[in-house]
Amino acid sequence: MSRTVLVTGGTSGIGRAVAARFTADGAGVTITGRHPDTVESAAKELGVRGLVCDASDPDQVVALAADLDGPLDVLVNAAGGLVPGSAPGTPPLQALARQWLSNVSANVLTAVLTTAAVGGRLAPEGTVVSIGSIGAERGGGSYGAAKAALAAWNTFLAAELGPRGVTCNVISSGYVTGTNFFGDGMTEERHQRLVEETMLKRPGTPGDLAETIFFLASPGARHITGQTIHVNGGAFTTR
Ligand SMILES: NC(=O)c1ccc[n+]([C@@H]2O[C@H](COP(=O)([O-])OP(=O)(O)OC[C@H]3O[C@@H](n4cnc5c(N)ncnc54)[C@H](OP(=O)(O)O)[C@@H]3O)[C@@H](O)[C@H]2O)c1
Repeated sequence: MSRTVLVTGGTSGIGRAVAARFTADGAGVTITGRHPDTVESAAKELGVRGLVCDASDPDQVVALAADLDGPLDVLVNAAGGLVPGSAPGTPPLQALARQWLSNVSANVLTAVLTTAAVGGRLAPEGTVVSIGSIGAERGGGSYGAAKAALAAWNTFLAAELGPRGVTCNVISSGYVTGTNFFGDGMTEERHQRLVEETMLKRPGTPGDLAETIFFLASPGARHITGQTIHVNGGAFTTR
């Protein structure tokens, strides 16, 4: 029987590659994003279902859960990213508060709300994967702290859902090209520096992440849970 998969933030980059990977396996995939135009075009190109949902908005997440049918085999929390700073002229402490709240909202709350809303539907042997970041290890300010919090929350979630046979892991991603993550903030010099930090001397691709996530949802990964798994070409090692 084909699996059902929900990918938040599935309109571009890593989430989109995840949606393509599970679709190629015959799964019934639903993707989300905040913008109707990109959700519609990505869903059409991928041949999946697209639903508009800002995963940081509780009301929209409740509506998303109501729109889904039946049990869910795989939830991938890919929605997130770097939130731009405040407009020039914003008082410094207000700007700082906004920066922290918005990064936590974009990178933690999105996963927490979606998982809470659809977690009851997860099938026995289900899988939750949330996308973290090497920024959590690199003093990445509010973004890195938010991704560190995501990993801390994941250990709680894994203990909560473990008795049902559901595995929960974070993929901590290194530098990945082919995404909208950096906007126009990537220079050739920065690209070279990030590539040089890897042992493999190349950036990650969305497909690299998608294959690891696909593995975590496979029968061979049923005893892997509560973990932060680093996919970064060796740019950060755990020993
Ligand atoms: N690219 C990298 O080098 C890198 C490195 C480490 C970690 N990551 C993480 O990887 C994940 C995927 O990012 P990406 O690199 O693939 O970047 P991306 O191409 O910008 O994709 C982000 C996706 O998330 C969606 N999204 C953002 N906020 C959302 C929200 N509140 N609700 C629903 N959807 C939302 C975006 O669509 P809309 O904007 O239309 O909503 C888009 O589909 C993120 O969590 C990011 O922090 C990326």
